Amino acid sequence: MNAPLPAEVLKQHLIDPEICIRCNTCEETCPIKAITHDSNNYVVDPDICNGCMACVPPCPTGAIDNWRLMVRAEAYGVQEQLGWEELPGEKALPETAAALPADDVPAATDLAAPAPFSAPGATVPPWSAAHPYVNLYTHKTPMTATVVGNYRVTGVDTESDIHHIVLDFGELPFPVLEGQSIGILPPGLDAQGRPHHARQYSLASPRDGERAGYNNLSLTVKRVTEDHAGAAAHGVCSNYLCDLAKNDKVQVIGPFGHTFLMPNHPRANLIMICTGTGSAPMRAMTERYRRRIDTGENGRLLLFFGARTERELPYFGPLMKLPRDFIDINLALSRETGQPKRYVQDLIRERAASVRELLADCNTCIYVCGLKGMEVGVLDALRDVTVQGGQDWSILHDALRREGRLHFETY
Ligand code: A2P
Repeated sequence: MNAPLPAEVLKQHLIDPEICIRCNTCEETCPIKAITHDSNNYVVDPDICNGCMACVPPCPTGAIDNWRLMVRAEAYGVQEQLGWEELPGEKALPETAAALPADDVPAATDLAAPAPFSAPGATVPPWSAAHPYVNLYTHKTPMTATVVGNYRVTGVDTESDIHHIVLDFGELPFPVLEGQSIGILPPGLDAQGRPHHARQYSLASPRDGERAGYNNLSLTVKRVTEDHAGAAAHGVCSNYLCDLAKNDKVQVIGPFGHTFLMPNHPRANLIMICTGTGSAPMRAMTERYRRRIDTGENGRLLLFFGARTERELPYFGPLMKLPRDFIDINLALSRETGQPKRYVQDLIRERAASVRELLADCNTCIYVCGLKGMEVGVLDALRDVTVQGGQDWSILHDALRREGRLHFETY
């Protein structure tokens, strides 16, 4: 008699729908388009995923890092995963598969070598970054914060309605670091009658609070009234947040993010490149440095900030009051009357000598946050200034990523 053939076992890659904040990072990172989503979930197609792991380090919550040993023929399909509210538990494998020694079960990570540097930025934090806490509060266990401030930080006569919103956590612990984000759960139900998913916002305040020593933090939120193509659209969470009044309660989850973090060692330099609300983490990092200006521990700060006009540039007034020997500010305005259109990448080229000098210093970290479109432009500009200086960009780019010194957060 023939023995039954051993069932083929798959280490199936799954995303935990209870922890996932639907930030799209995994789908963007996947080099072979194995990740897809609908209005409910982000899911991994078992017929495409080769376990390259490229999506795992960038995930800000760790929701992506779930695996189940399955008989391949019974793997969870895309449609089934899209309907999940929670991950299924481990299933017992049939005798024929379970009888295989553990070493014979192909690990997803054995199937393909991770693509080195498939993302433009690092997937590790700078070596000296402080330890971040993540997922302290989840969709199932959100915490309630109180609004203690909400005011507009762009000119009232402009189309860019950007708000600075301060949330207080009272007695509950909510430890954060500059560069991390939180999730906000807007009240109400979506078109399918389900509670809205969390929306992610970067912190605009440093680790010790919007007001030093207070258990609070701030966000920079743009009221969304149109989609990327310019068609009318109502941003559920941004409108909710921008309309909040003092003392209103907000459901918060997080914190999230373990790589877009600032270096913690003395005399570290920061190159900060942002557009619009991408200024939030730059404000947080700048404020961290400003509060310790007298310690002599600060390195150099070089800021490239893009906006349509001065009046549409969030925090323009307070930013311009910072001492020039503390921060080197370069504003790229694209629609200022009487001025040529300029983007942040144009200014990086204009300031090539300073950028090169900082890039050559291993104590320099670079942060890019804002419009997705600027990613390529900024990388091209960094490459050009490097090559002009007689250096090899691909070697430097790899080093910046390996050492956690180049970080992108774009949307
Ligand atoms: P533009 O005037 O061409 O839209 P927004 O106000 O939409 O958030 O944009 C912030 C700034 O980023 C604007 O000055 C905008 O210019 C600019 N911007 C748009 N696309 C890019 C890009 N691909 N690279 C750099 N900056 C960009």
